[in-house]
Amino acid sequence: MEILQNYSLRAYNTFGIDAQADWFIPFASVEDLQLLSRDEYFQECRCITVGEGSNLLFLTNFHGIVLHSVIQSVERCGETEDTVDFLVGSGVKWDDLVAQMAEADLYGIENLSLIPGQVGAAAVQNIGAYGAEVCEVIREVHAVHRRTGQVHRFSVDECAYSYRHSFFKEPEAADYIVTHVLLRLLKHSHLKLDYADLRQRVIARTETPTALDVREEVIRIRQEKLPDPAVLGNAGSFFMNPIVSAEAFERLRQAYPEAPHYDLPDGQVKVPAGWLIDRCALKGYRLGHAAVYERQALVLVNADGEATGQDIARLAEYVQEQVAERFGLQITPEVRYIS
Ligand code: EPU
Repeated sequence: MEILQNYSLRAYNTFGIDAQADWFIPFASVEDLQLLSRDEYFQECRCITVGEGSNLLFLTNFHGIVLHSVIQSVERCGETEDTVDFLVGSGVKWDDLVAQMAEADLYGIENLSLIPGQVGAAAVQNIGAYGAEVCEVIREVHAVHRRTGQVHRFSVDECAYSYRHSFFKEPEAADYIVTHVLLRLLKHSHLKLDYADLRQRVIARTETPTALDVREEVIRIRQEKLPDPAVLGNAGSFFMNPIVSAEAFERLRQAYPEAPHYDLPDGQVKVPAGWLIDRCALKGYRLGHAAVYERQALVLVNADGEATGQDIARLAEYVQEQVAERFGLQITPEVRYIS
């Protein structure tokens, strides 16, 4: 196992911010983590795990240890008439897994195509898009406790999933390092086409769509709307869509009858933050080296490749103030700030 000192994290955050980690340790197995867990310095030191850093904002250099999973296995580990289970290493690139499953004609994650990041991060963050969330296919998340070296297998219920959230984002889970995710895919076609734009495109393509057809259309939609982090640094949606009470939404609708929204099963209403920001006329707005993306207001970008984490955070704060002033609604970053 390599232990790297004063290591640039530019390639490990999709904003492309040039922060440094005191220590950077790629781990390739449970045993690597267990070896580290026996080291007193490792037990005491500040520590975070970073995949591709597609949901992180480094505000400064990171004084501590950055762990990075390179566990790359995809193991078929169970099968019924209708389902196939896979135990997948946390270091597998999420979209490579989606491609592999769609090509094998297995269903469940095709709507989550082209989302950047690794499998471990996908499970921590409960990634979601086009009416699907990864928690719907997760059976278990396996993690090593960084002080004891013990392996814990969390059932999907213990992961306590909700919108872009899980137990692993809570402070009491900080010592768990995800190593594997157990996923259950479906063998028979089971498409989720509630998202109108996606449904129209898929149906226009073929009468008998497969997971691969859905994947290809999702990729097209995302490429039209979202900037490629390899070209323009960004972390996808910067803010979560705020969830408001039915009464609060009614007040908003009186002022803005066209306001898009999703009704939630519990009676609350999710309002797209991208629309709120767009209505504040902030698309393309630039502050220093950071900007609101021109084609999707929910995305903040490293406009010229020179932005610092502070530049992005200042822009985010400005956007939050504008939305609060105009709509009286608080929007919260989905992106995790690291200092
Ligand atoms: N809208 C605007 N202007 C904008 C952006 C959006 O008016 O600049 C409007 C759209 O017209 C639409 C509504 O807002 O009526 C929602 O927009 P969209 O369907 O593009 O989805 P979103 O709510 O902006 C969410 C996820 C995305 C996911 C898409 C597709 C969150 C925070 N974001 O975005 O996830 O890909 O739905 O399902 O839930 C991510 O998390 O990084 C991410 C990209």
